[in-house]
Amino acid sequence: MANQNYMKAYKLFFVIFLWAASLFFFSGFGYFAAEGSLFGVYTYKEFETPRYCGTCHTDIYRQWEQSMMAQAYTHHWDEIEYFDLAVAHGKNDPAFKDAHEGCNGCHAPLAYMAGDVPPPKPAENSRANESVSCEVCHLIQDYEADTPFNFNFVVQPGKTKYSSREGEIKSPDHKIMLSELHSKAEFCGICHNEKNSFGIWVKSTHLEWMAGPYAREGVPCQDCHMPPAGGKTAKMGSFYEDARQHLFHGAHDPGKVKGTIELRIHPDIREAEPGDPVVFTLALFNQKTGHKFPTGSVEDRIVWLHVEAVDSKGNTYHLPVDKKGFEGEEYTIAGTELAYSDLSVPLGKPGFKGVDRDGVPAGDRIFRMPYFDENGIMTIMQWNTRSLGVDYRIGPRETKMETFTFQLPDGVAPGKLTVTAVLNYQKLVKPVADLLNVPEDESEIIEVNRHSTEIEIFE
Ligand code: HEC
Ligand code: HEC
Ligand code: HEC
Ligand code: HEC
Ligand code: HEC
Repeated sequence: MANQNYMKAYKLFFVIFLWAASLFFFSGFGYFAAEGSLFGVYTYKEFETPRYCGTCHTDIYRQWEQSMMAQAYTHHWDEIEYFDLAVAHGKNDPAFKDAHEGCNGCHAPLAYMAGDVPPPKPAENSRANESVSCEVCHLIQDYEADTPFNFNFVVQPGKTKYSSREGEIKSPDHKIMLSELHSKAEFCGICHNEKNSFGIWVKSTHLEWMAGPYAREGVPCQDCHMPPAGGKTAKMGSFYEDARQHLFHGAHDPGKVKGTIELRIHPDIREAEPGDPVVFTLALFNQKTGHKFPTGSVEDRIVWLHVEAVDSKGNTYHLPVDKKGFEGEEYTIAGTELAYSDLSVPLGKPGFKGVDRDGVPAGDRIFRMPYFDENGIMTIMQWNTRSLGVDYRIGPRETKMETFTFQLPDGVAPGKLTVTAVLNYQKLVKPVADLLNVPEDESEIIEVNRHSTEIEIFE
């Protein structure tokens, strides 16, 4: 009897132990801290401001100032997601108490290294606002571990700046140390690869690049985002034919996004009668990106293909894409489902059912990779992602084919029928942008490309 009680107590103890261990494990406690061992080890004062560097590096400073990396902490959507979702999530659910700390490792590295977390809001104009500054990148000496990810940079403040140009280069302000890492894609991977506390790769731009043709051909990120061109890198310095331009233009530059995918559409027959089925085939060729399209904040991004036919009388018909039958395809065809119900926790809205998953015309093909919460519902909170769905994005130099079978309606007008395919891009799904009051530009529709073809209708 005594022995049985002892066994019961022992079992109970074991169950509690497992429960506590799992809480500890799943809380993600210490996860970001483990990668970014620089939390709180320096002070803001040990770093120079970008403005200071800009007194001599005039052009580079002005270019950088306009890039998204100069706004990684202050940008409106970042502020909303950080304070209203990540910080709020931790307040409403203790398991996510630390989830917001890691954000600063990439978005406000100085604040992270100064242990100033959460930093003052952007309006308070603290040094967290410097975002990904000159000092962050030019004090990086190396990264920890084999794979660059989760801001695993090795940074030491001081007068020695690291960069890639070979030769006798002198600066009146600082020492210069040659760094091969700065001309490699791995350098960017330090922040452009991210694994969350559940072990999910929620950002993998560098890993996508590694698996594609540009890595094999030795074309790093820098060649497309910091193109070399004639100019001075410091106003009192030398002229170089290949001065690295600090453009860092990406999804927030419509010019960079436009033309990324080339479209060509053709019919199987050129002449048809009402009632006939006509199959339109579309080729989508990724001509421009060195990684998948879309990449980066894939949980937010949406790329969709809208195809319409217009007959000679101006009647318009929307053509839904033909199903291919692969697993998870339902997430790649726009529908009317709801999603993002996990926002209920940070927003403090119990019972919140979510908002429209896609916000684009039903039946359109979507090129995306869905992120799922613990209930298998799509989420835009990367830190709450437990699994990833089908990866139906367009890889670098990949061509995807789609077909649209159009059963010509009885009332279709004789004469020319023009079929137009339009590929659209949006940085943040519209229903979420509206729910969270994210300024319009984050959900503006950018037309990536379009192409048309014609058939002749006879009566
Ligand atoms: C210290 C971390 C860090 C490093 C290192 C870094 N990035 Fe970034 N990068 C960021 C963050 C954070 C953002 C997101 C900015 C925002 O909030 O919109 C970003 C944004 C960008 C964007 C803009 C995307 C858009 O939405 O328009 C481009 C392009 C980019 N980075 C390219 C690079 C390249 C190329 C390298 C390597 C030379 C690099 N980055 C290195 C942190 C980093
Ligand atoms: C008083 C002027 C001055 C200031 C201030 C200054 N630099 Fe420089 N820096 C130079 C000059 C001059 C060069 C050499 C340019 C050349 O190659 O002709 C240089 C070169 C560099 C290089 C290039 C090394 C290479 O491999 O080509 C980097 C990186 C750099 N500076 C970063 C910084 C950073 C970061 C700051 C701010 C903390 C800064 N500089 C502040 C004058 C300055
Ligand atoms: C996201 C990281 C990042 C940021 C932010 C950044 N740089 Fe750089 N910078 C680089 C990299 C990487 C290179 C080398 C590119 C290569 O060689 O492929 C470079 C090159 C340079 C060079 C040498 C250019 C050449 O062609 O020799 C100077 C000077 C420089 N940076 C100064 C600055 C200054 C000043 C700022 C802030 C206004 C700044 N950088 C911000 C990553 C960055
Ligand atoms: C062959 C040229 C090329 C190479 C190489 C390349 N990119 Fe890009 N990148 C693009 C183009 C074009 C876009 C704009 C379309 C888009 O948003 O994907 C882009 C977009 C981006 C964006 C914005 C994505 C978004 O949705 O916000 C980021 C971030 C980025 N690149 C980072 C990188 C990094 C990091 C590397 C290296 C690991 C890299 N790029 C290599 C061409 C390139
Ligand atoms: C490992 C580095 C890293 C960490 C950690 C990280 N981010 Fe980011 N974040 C990035 C990079 C790089 C981009 C740009 C990707 C792109 O352009 O698509 C980005 C983009 C974003 C964007 C989209 C910006 C836009 O305008 O589209 C938001 C919002 C954001 N991050 C918020 C967060 C929050 C909140 C956290 C913490 C829960 C976080 N990030 C953690 C690197 C990181």
